[in-house]
Amino acid sequence: MTHSQLDPEARLDPEALRGLIARELTGNRQRTTLLTDSVDEDDLVRQHSPLMSPLVWDLAHIANQEELWLLREVGGREPLHPEIDPLYDAFEHPRSERPTLPLLPPAEARAYGHEVRGRVMDLLERATFGGTRLLGDGFAFGMVAQHEAQHDETMLITHQLRTGAPVLTAAPPGPAPADALGLPAEVLVPGGPFTMGTSTEPWALDNERPAHSVQVASFYLDTTPVTCGAYTEFIEAGGYDDPRWWTTAGWQHRQDAGLTAPLYWSRDGGQWIRRVFGRSEPVAPHEPVLHVSWYEADAYARWAGRRLPTEAEWEKAARFDPATGLTRRYPWGNAEPEPSQANLGQGYLRPAAAGSYPDGAAPCGARQLIGDVWEWTSSDFMPYPGFRAWPYREYSEVFFGPEYKVLRGGSFAVSSVACRGTFRNWDYPIRRQIFSGFRTARTATLLPGDSVPPGTPGQRA
Ligand SMILES: [Fe+2]
Repeated sequence: MTHSQLDPEARLDPEALRGLIARELTGNRQRTTLLTDSVDEDDLVRQHSPLMSPLVWDLAHIANQEELWLLREVGGREPLHPEIDPLYDAFEHPRSERPTLPLLPPAEARAYGHEVRGRVMDLLERATFGGTRLLGDGFAFGMVAQHEAQHDETMLITHQLRTGAPVLTAAPPGPAPADALGLPAEVLVPGGPFTMGTSTEPWALDNERPAHSVQVASFYLDTTPVTCGAYTEFIEAGGYDDPRWWTTAGWQHRQDAGLTAPLYWSRDGGQWIRRVFGRSEPVAPHEPVLHVSWYEADAYARWAGRRLPTEAEWEKAARFDPATGLTRRYPWGNAEPEPSQANLGQGYLRPAAAGSYPDGAAPCGARQLIGDVWEWTSSDFMPYPGFRAWPYREYSEVFFGPEYKVLRGGSFAVSSVACRGTFRNWDYPIRRQIFSGFRTARTATLLPGDSVPPGTPGQRA
């Protein structure tokens, strides 16, 4: 799928913006429909894990948020069904409680979604994309499209947790390119300042703002995410049994939870097997490892004599172009992702082999920074200097603090509308039902006589 540009330096005219919004809303809704039509009523209303909502909750919650932000806030309409609002307020009811609520049954949830979407398309026809901050650049529509995309990823996580006969199928990604096996293990990211975050990205959320200059020392980053094969070496070297590699909290959790391998992995004789959307298969050694917690990623990195990258290091590797000193929107430049550049949008239901997507490589040479697997960073989820909560505190502000770790880059399960070089995701360090992987880093120590890597200030606010 080719996207129209949302490049902040090439603003869309209102008709092009209207078309872009319609395509994003429609594309995500097709995915929502597929994820909820592919299971029966019992599977829709059942809770597949205490970590997740019943799928029927996601379905009506998507519609409820769309109604709230677009029909009520932007369109000034009265609530369609005010009595159901509290049921679908994510802050009022934790996920574990949601199955006990008097939720709309599947047919009513679908009808509510159709009703809201029909009115939203009418609103979009007449929208002027100006006058208020919510309407500027179609932000409210973009936020709602991203919200549905995020729930499509959440629902795919529920599908992976679900037991029973497989219902989802997708072709695998193509094999890795011929040069994948010959890639250097790590790439150098030159030291110096760069512009992190954004003040101009039209649909960026509050936690990605504002743009600010960050000093990052030279470091080396893995060219690709850590593979299942490399991770298996950590397991087989006794990594899960050696407290030296684990933080105190991580070791405690490893003991309490009985961790011995990534989630969904099991041992069958001499080989590792994993469950993928209801099917069992041998672990693919060249694929990026998936379903590891921050504690496991951090332990692996220490075992390998390395560390997780900070969030700023990750973003510099993904966006900074030393040749121009500018910060890009994506590793490959400013244009929206093409299918040849990143594995996004649930087109494949798995990450592509490490070394894939040379067309999506960053200036430093790292591949697959966008798409494939979310990458844990060493950083806590904190506000950028100058952060202002908008349009509501509960989007990010209430989550800031050391209990959450930042993940970057998106996964195969997220649509491109909710993934960009500045996009920040966060979760508890014990979580691994998410599509999480990682890559490792090390600080570059320059020896006497080494040339100082180029580093020029980035100025693309
Ligand atoms: Fe939500």
